[in-house]
Amino acid sequence: MQIGIDFTDRHVVVFGGTTGINFGIADAFARQGARVTVASRKRENVDAAVAALGAHGGQVCGVVADVRDFDAVGAAFATAVEKFGPIDVLISGAAGNFLCEAKDMSSNGFKVVVDIDLVGTFHVLRQAHAHLRKPGASVINITAPQSFVPMRYQAHASAAKAGVDQLTRVLALEWGVDGIRLNAISPGPIDGTEGFRKLMAPTPQDREFARDQVPLQRFGTLDDVANLALFLASPYGAYISGALIPCDGGGAFESVKPALEAAGRAQGSSNTR
Ligand code: HXC
Ligand code: NAP
Repeated sequence: MQIGIDFTDRHVVVFGGTTGINFGIADAFARQGARVTVASRKRENVDAAVAALGAHGGQVCGVVADVRDFDAVGAAFATAVEKFGPIDVLISGAAGNFLCEAKDMSSNGFKVVVDIDLVGTFHVLRQAHAHLRKPGASVINITAPQSFVPMRYQAHASAAKAGVDQLTRVLALEWGVDGIRLNAISPGPIDGTEGFRKLMAPTPQDREFARDQVPLQRFGTLDDVANLALFLASPYGAYISGALIPCDGGGAFESVKPALEAAGRAQGSSNTR
């Protein structure tokens, strides 16, 4: 169920927007009339997302770019802005993850997650800045509960997403004077996504255990997160900036920790390289 807020002709860019939660956000904006640009690494994901978003009848642009490549991110924005003009809403959500204890993690394993989640977010925001509508743009970073709550098997993502949170707050200070708002959404266990499958619920028993840990006793949906993004980006969110907002069924960012750590224990050393 989606809230209805008109985004007709607004340009919305979703980096990492071709699958999962971020695609759900792109889809919600497309349904509300926005011109939507999605970008990610894999051509097949970009093509599939563009086809699905186009089915709503609006204008869609798809670009292939890896957030670790600063110049490629810049080129993606140039393409998007040439097509649809200045950016009204930017979502930055590209991420990678795996379960692994720090003592078993290679330097490159730590680095790859930091490079995608944190350095990639900086690349996206830095390259977007010149193209953001001033005043009026809304930037939303997609973070994760492990940025706030320490979780075993998540040294890389915890460190990276904590950096994303603080980047959000610092840029809210620096860019607020230009009328740009920055916020971060921290999803909980969102059903049907890669992160959920990979980190929390590999078996039906794990799934049941994970659900029991959520105060509201259900998993989140793509619409749950997308509705928050629509609200934050809209005039109704006009005085909200620098905020880290959980969308996790309660539990003060803790609703995924028991299930994620149980999955990490179950995988044990089989997940190390
Ligand atoms: C230990 C691992 C590993 C694993 C990779 N590595 N997987 N180490 N256990 N399971 C190590 C590799 O050995 C290598 O180090 C280094 O990480 C880089 O691996 P590559 O496969 O070469 O990297 P790459 O192809 O760039 O892929 C990046 C990735 C991959 C992060 C490893 O999983 C990916 O692309 N993921 C994107 C999709 C994704 O993960 N979505 C879920 C996001 S969920 P060495 O030393 O061998 O070179 C999320 C939070 C959810 O973000 C929160 C839920 C609560
Ligand atoms: P997902 O489907 O794997 O989404 C990740 C997206 O990022 C994909 O579009 C992927 O497409 C893209 N991507 C990955 N690496 C990239 C790179 N180097 N450059 C450009 N794009 C890249 O995962 P998800 O579970 O929906 O997670 C989406 C976001 O929500 C992430 O930020 C994650 O940390 C956060 N989150 C998820 C959950 C959950 O329950 N799933 C909980 C908390 C937080 P390509 O493969 O084509 O690049």
